[in-house]
Amino acid sequence: MTSRERRYVGAISGTSVDGLDLAVIAMRRTRIHFEAGYTAPFPPQLRNTLKQLAAAERIAIDELGAVDHELGEFIGRAVLDFLASSGLPREAITAVGSHGQTIRHRPSGRWPFTMQIGDPHVIAEITGIDTYADFRRRDLAAGGQGAPLVPPFHAALFNARGNAAIVLNIGGIANVTHLPATRSGRPVIGFDTGPGNALIDLWAARHLAADFDLDGRWAASGAVDQTLLTRCLEEPYFQHPPPKSTGKELFGADWLEGMLASVPSVPAADVQATLVELTARSVADAVQRYTTGCKRVIVCGGGRLNGHLMRRLEAALKPAAVTTTDALGYNGDWIEAAAFAWLAHRAAIGKPGNLPAVTGACGERTLGGFFPGQ
Ligand SMILES: Nc1ncnc2c1ncn2[C@@H]1O[C@H](COP(=O)(O)OP(=O)(O)O)[C@@H](O)[C@H]1O
Ligand SMILES: [Mg+2]
Repeated sequence: MTSRERRYVGAISGTSVDGLDLAVIAMRRTRIHFEAGYTAPFPPQLRNTLKQLAAAERIAIDELGAVDHELGEFIGRAVLDFLASSGLPREAITAVGSHGQTIRHRPSGRWPFTMQIGDPHVIAEITGIDTYADFRRRDLAAGGQGAPLVPPFHAALFNARGNAAIVLNIGGIANVTHLPATRSGRPVIGFDTGPGNALIDLWAARHLAADFDLDGRWAASGAVDQTLLTRCLEEPYFQHPPPKSTGKELFGADWLEGMLASVPSVPAADVQATLVELTARSVADAVQRYTTGCKRVIVCGGGRLNGHLMRRLEAALKPAAVTTTDALGYNGDWIEAAAFAWLAHRAAIGKPGNLPAVTGACGERTLGGFFPGQ
């Protein structure tokens, strides 16, 4: 490592709760280099607990405290395992950026809050590496949504050549970053468009007893129910202008039940086809409404591996060209983890991590709490 180079580990578990994504980036001045990525699957018991907590209306403080510690330990150990398998000594890492697991995101209301768990004290203790965590709450304190936080990273990574592009991350929730052509002078904007895989996964779990609908094959076997689709697209969230962010608090089981109850009975496979269409249409509507003239959409996140969803997206986004971050040399499973590594870098050098035009915060802020490794 040269003296100008710093390495960071980023770690995040998204709303799908499918595993902990980890990435190592090296910063050479402002240039970002991806060095490694890895997904650490959760033990089934921890996964179930996290899913239950995220969905529960009431949570016992004892349970919350214990799983905060348990997840911190899991993240700390995963960072060490990841470094060992990447052949990197811990001394090579300037800092860890840990997002943790969101168990509640309520960015609106009189007392807005967002809560991520995975105790960073435990991560720092286990790894001995300086750790930054709790990235969202400072933005929220400054009047922002605390989300999405990935757009400035997308801008740093993909906007180098200055061409307009949309970066679309399809996790449990889908979010877009609009990178305007540099010469346009327009700001980068970004927001959550609504459901990504969350509803598709939920319905697959109920009817296929699987974590997800592999390649969207089951959805492809059904037909879109136009009545249900129209009903779903009437959701007021889709009409709100950005800044905005959402989660499974809205697009969860209750929401889906409510939609299904408001239309005549639809066969299960047709519901799945309709939910895929809903993701594709809500993304495309948002892109067309707020990002006029963009001809290139770059997709990352687990949803890019759902072939049926990708074909529906391409159809909905026409004439824009749809590609993946992988095609540009960045594995789409680890973009978000890399973003939190980059946010740790921003915090370490005392630079802001948020974009006020994205989150709605009243200004730029250095994000994250600091938990020293030694
Ligand atoms: N082969 C696949 N076929 C269909 N869907 C997939 C496939 N691989 C991953 N996914 C989807 O991607 C999701 C995980 O995406 P991810 O980007 O990790 O989301 P999050 O950030 O919410 O954790 C899975 O829950 C699943 O819906
Ligand atoms: Mg995930």
